[in-house]
Amino acid sequence: MYTATDPPIVEADLPPGGRVCTTVNGRRVVVFNLEGQLHAIASACPHAGRPLDDGELRGRVLTCPFHGYAYNITNGVNIDYPDLEPPVPVFAARFRDGRLELDDRPASLA
Ligand code: FES
Repeated sequence: MYTATDPPIVEADLPPGGRVCTTVNGRRVVVFNLEGQLHAIASACPHAGRPLDDGELRGRVLTCPFHGYAYNITNGVNIDYPDLEPPVPVFAARFRDGRLELDDRPASLA
């Protein structure tokens, strides 16, 4: 079910190339706008639970700023150890009536 973020995020807050950190249903999430496509990923690194808010993004790869684990933001999969490490939950995201909403069911935990 799509749920508005808290605090509310409007389209002007997330232009192409931008990122915002917000929460949905109490879960901290980082949302990226890559060339008009929204990608939302939980801000909790599976390695040690640290936040991914300030991780470096190169292309679609987000690197955890603490110990360097890297994740594909489109599916949450660990780049270096896809079969050994759990993925980060990712969520569908959209703007509706100008406000950001996330589907609170993780898309990567099928
Ligand atoms: S907490 Fe992210 S790599 Fe260790």
